[in-house]
Amino acid sequence: MTLLEVRDLHVDFQTRDGVVKAVNGVNYSVEAGETLAVLGESGSGKSVTAQAVMGILDMPPGRIPKGEILFHGENMLTMSKEERRKIRGARIAMIFQDALSSLNPVLTVGYQLAEMFRVHQGLGRKEAKARSIELMERVKIPAAKARVNDYPHQFSGGMRQRIMIAMALALEPDLIIADEPTTALDVTVQAQVMALLADLQREYNMGLILITHDLGVVADVADKIAVMYAGRIVETAPVKELYRAPAHPYTKGLLESIPRLDRKGQELYAIQGLPPNMAKVPEGCAFHPRCPAARDICRTELPPLAEVDDARGSACHFWKETIDA
Ligand SMILES: Nc1ncnc2c1ncn2[C@@H]1O[C@H](COP(=O)(O)OP(=O)(O)OP(=O)(O)O)[C@@H](O)[C@H]1O
Ligand code: SF4
Ligand SMILES: [Mg+2]
Repeated sequence: MTLLEVRDLHVDFQTRDGVVKAVNGVNYSVEAGETLAVLGESGSGKSVTAQAVMGILDMPPGRIPKGEILFHGENMLTMSKEERRKIRGARIAMIFQDALSSLNPVLTVGYQLAEMFRVHQGLGRKEAKARSIELMERVKIPAAKARVNDYPHQFSGGMRQRIMIAMALALEPDLIIADEPTTALDVTVQAQVMALLADLQREYNMGLILITHDLGVVADVADKIAVMYAGRIVETAPVKELYRAPAHPYTKGLLESIPRLDRKGQELYAIQGLPPNMAKVPEGCAFHPRCPAARDICRTELPPLAEVDDARGSACHFWKETIDA
């Protein structure tokens, strides 16, 4: 059975500007041992989708007017609060961008890790501490035994993010959602933390949803990609195929804007314009004001997510031309 399946998910927010339709019919799935990368510029709805899955959406102002979120085949949107709470943290864990604001500054990291084992597994103080040290070693914190009593601010950004990964792994969840887990880190540290996350995911055979706006980091770790634009998935494909021949002009633009060593010295391509204000999304294809391939039909008709093949979809009226180009 599929580990997680999001079906036709819609999320709205009531704001002063009116109703913001942040997520408009998103479908995606993740199997055990699989990594799905969710990609897209700021405001495209990546985090809101993840928050709905995790059950941490601000409601109100948020609302889920439509959709299903199936975890092991069960719709979490119709579960009781109690059932939902049991899944959160223990079976689905989340890693955020900013470890410093997710960790409690006045408690040692060892205490915060141990707390997970004490609360959820009823372990005693000593045993919980031993498990915490083990976990810190797992995520490659040097001298874990000595550092278990340190406070979050005593660790570097990269080490703090490793501690966040340890917290997420503590209860051996089936699924981890990592929302921009390395954005706040230096490039070299980013790569190390990403490699660690990928290794652990494989070892534990977990599903991983990796949210990022950086196509560069997903090539090595993801199995498949969902590209979001203005609250919809505009392209979905296995990672290699998407890199080889994108079927949507937006994906193409994202790929062309990755810095590459073999093009050193050349000017970097950037997609023109900005993502839309989600309270005033353009008619037709939301990408049309920025799309170099836009034609008349794009301004009036919303392109459905067309099936490119069994594993691929593109929401572009002209996906055939795009993929052949
Ligand atoms: N609590 C909220 N109240 C009102 N609007 C919200 C709320 N949370 C998110 N939104 C809106 O929903 C849309 C999608 O936001 P989301 O955070 O999912 O973007 P994102 O793709 O994660 O972007 P980023 O890359 O910047 O993290 C945005 O227009 C945002 O302003
Ligand atoms: S539908 Fe039109 S505007 Fe939208 S991506 Fe395709 S060509 Fe561009
Ligand atoms: Mg986000």
